[in-house]
Amino acid sequence: MNIGIESLSFFTSRYVLDLRTMAKARGVDAEKVVNGIGQEKMSVPPPGEDVITLAANAGHQALASIDTDSIEMVMFATESATDQSKAGGIYVHNLLKLKPYCRVIELKQACYSGTAGLLLARDMIQQHPERKVLILMSDIARYGLNSAGEITQGAGAIAMVVSSQPKIMTIEPDSGYYTQDVMDFWRPNYRDEALVDGKYSVRIYLKALTESWNLYHQRTRIGFEQFARFCYHLPFSRMAEKAHKHLAKINHIDLSENELATHINDGLIYNREIGNIYTGSLYLSLISMLENNPQDMSNQKVSLFSYGSGCVGELFAGQVLPGYRNYLNSDLHQSLLESRKELSYPEYSDFYNFAYAEDGTTQTMPSFDTGCYRLSQIKDHKRIYEML
Ligand code: CAA
Repeated sequence: MNIGIESLSFFTSRYVLDLRTMAKARGVDAEKVVNGIGQEKMSVPPPGEDVITLAANAGHQALASIDTDSIEMVMFATESATDQSKAGGIYVHNLLKLKPYCRVIELKQACYSGTAGLLLARDMIQQHPERKVLILMSDIARYGLNSAGEITQGAGAIAMVVSSQPKIMTIEPDSGYYTQDVMDFWRPNYRDEALVDGKYSVRIYLKALTESWNLYHQRTRIGFEQFARFCYHLPFSRMAEKAHKHLAKINHIDLSENELATHINDGLIYNREIGNIYTGSLYLSLISMLENNPQDMSNQKVSLFSYGSGCVGELFAGQVLPGYRNYLNSDLHQSLLESRKELSYPEYSDFYNFAYAEDGTTQTMPSFDTGCYRLSQIKDHKRIYEML
């Protein structure tokens, strides 16, 4: 039985900051941002947009041609949760009008938890082939104004339907994974912004990649050369270059610049435009590779490496299905990116500093473009959403 991705979409904020604008405001060389880090722009969420509205917008697209009554489970992966108790997916379940006979949970392990959702869904569908799972990965990356990580911020959500009738990619059952208790990136409950030991986080990412690959290869005997493309978790797009060179090196492969570009470049395009979307970042890279690759990828094997700080890494494989292009949302995604409103630096910092009520008073949100859904009010400590 084939199990994999039947439907796949992303949504990102309708507002964007060109990172050259930020570099100028910070007195940083724009070359560092564009070439050293590999980022062009970052999506910035306006007041009234949070991980729930981002996920609902992505889910709306991913479910456009799916019978919503077939969705038996919603897994909501995030590290920007709005509540310590209630799963964000329950709001989305309601906004998307899914049936009540459905399980909804929230998953957390930094940027890795969406992958946990995908692979757990795969195993569940093996047992119950008629069931479909909606996986939502939604995050707003905040490092703080003037921090080293600020240029890698971003906001967005991925939605995918996993089923036994995949149209885009089958997910193979074997993987290699690795866990180690480290403090490379974390966000204590009392903080809105992440703490990070940036250079250390890059080293630990590469270690998790080595260990995950070694276990994967030991279990499957599948080699580096058998993959046509490689998608990586992308905290910033140059991370893929570091990771891929590292993977080639541990496999004793002398990678040419052309091979490097072929293996990873199409997968970097959307992330360079949006920034880090944490849980969804690997899958944004997968969408970017599928939608921007001029070659037909049918029947090709793709390596997928997921990394979540703290840390867990997992490497697994997908095989692209013939006809996959008919099921992509390429035009929609292109126009979503092209029609974003560009922010000035003061507009960006106003959005960034917008304060949500934390004292139970009623706060009505100002009106900004947040797609088809918005957080309209916070009242009595409750978040109230509406469909537009
Ligand atoms: N022109 C061109 N390139 C330049 C330049 C210039 N003027 N100035 C610097 N550069 C280059 C540097 O040489 C360097 O390149 P290499 O990586 O090839 O050495 C690159 O730009 C970055 O420069 P620095 O290392 O000096 O940058 P920094 O001190 O600002 O730190 C960072 C970079 C550590 C990634 C920082 O942005 C950060 O902390 N980011 C957040 C953490 C992160 O993304 N970690 C990634 C792994 S953890 C993970 O993956 C989970 C997650 O999602 C967070």
